[in-house]
Amino acid sequence: MRVLVTGGGGFLGAALCRSLAARGDIAIAFDMAFPDSLVREAEDNTNILICQGDISDMANVCQVFQTEKPDTVIHCAAVVGVIASLGSPSSVFRINVGGAINLFEAMRLYGITRVIHISSEETYGEFETDVATEDHPMNPLYAYGITKVTVEHLGRTYHLVNGLECINLRTSWVYGPDFPRMRVPRDLLEAAVDGRSLHLPTGGDSAIDHTYIDDFVTGTLLALDHPRHQYDAYHIASGTSPTLFNMVDIIRELVPGADISIGPGVYKHAGTVDIPRKGALDCSRAREVFGYVPQFDLRAGLSANIEAYRKHAITKNF
Ligand SMILES: NC(=O)c1ccc[n+]([C@@H]2O[C@H](COP(=O)([O-])OP(=O)(O)OC[C@H]3O[C@@H](n4cnc5c(N)ncnc54)[C@H](O)[C@@H]3O)[C@@H](O)[C@H]2O)c1
Repeated sequence: MRVLVTGGGGFLGAALCRSLAARGDIAIAFDMAFPDSLVREAEDNTNILICQGDISDMANVCQVFQTEKPDTVIHCAAVVGVIASLGSPSSVFRINVGGAINLFEAMRLYGITRVIHISSEETYGEFETDVATEDHPMNPLYAYGITKVTVEHLGRTYHLVNGLECINLRTSWVYGPDFPRMRVPRDLLEAAVDGRSLHLPTGGDSAIDHTYIDDFVTGTLLALDHPRHQYDAYHIASGTSPTLFNMVDIIRELVPGADISIGPGVYKHAGTVDIPRKGALDCSRAREVFGYVPQFDLRAGLSANIEAYRKHAITKNF
């Protein structure tokens, strides 16, 4: 299969490209910018194609369909996160919503029917329950979540009018090696491994579903491969929501002597914007329909992430 991965240079997109290539698919990574590591891999691996382009530019989007002839699409390109969207409210709509419309239009023009859209738990806003199913009301609080809900709804419109199949995978606080932003658990585990002190003033009471990158990739590829979907939205997450107090305790156990802590109360995006009440994403629909079973609880994911970070630190020093 030739799979167009928009945002293929990003955290999730690059991980998907690597896994697609490893199993023999052709991953067409479309992005504005790429990490050197992926560019180097693409030089040696003909299953990864690097295609630079801007999703908000329809000509760029059409060109990748014209030249690379994808069979299907995984859509990751976006301005990501609450803080980024607060800082650039017009570009978040231009890229996240305008970019998705360009993609859906190009798919219509080139006769491609399936897109897996990576959506978010930010679509829900304040969780009404500790465990949310896909039917939880969607009341996003910030521009980022509003764009994710909008793209989901636009996908439904394209389904109605053009027969496009837009499958929305809502995931939550994915973490792992190469995570590009400085938020938990990256800041905590890097401080612990580096032997630095880090005391976050607030956030310990926030309960968040943290998804390890390998589970995210597995779930996304299962959804991609599933022949017929009876739903258009699924959770791909861990299905649990430990508090950040729990997270700090686990890191302290995994890295004895770690001088890290977190104060009580609500976690703040970038230390400034309160996150809404969150919780676990119930993954039973994804399990029943295409067999997704998360393999990494928080301890297993943190342990794998710490091991990868240690290895990276060793390689960096040689
Ligand atoms: N990482 C998470 O915890 C998480 C959680 C829920 C949903 N998501 C969603 O998953 C997707 C990928 O997120 P990520 O964590 O990999 O973020 P990321 O920032 O690493 O990746 C996003 C990629 O989109 C690219 N991009 C931005 N504007 C573009 C444009 N105009 N044209 C082409 N490419 C452009 C960026 O260059 C970047 O490589 C996003 O849609 C995000 O909303 C992520």
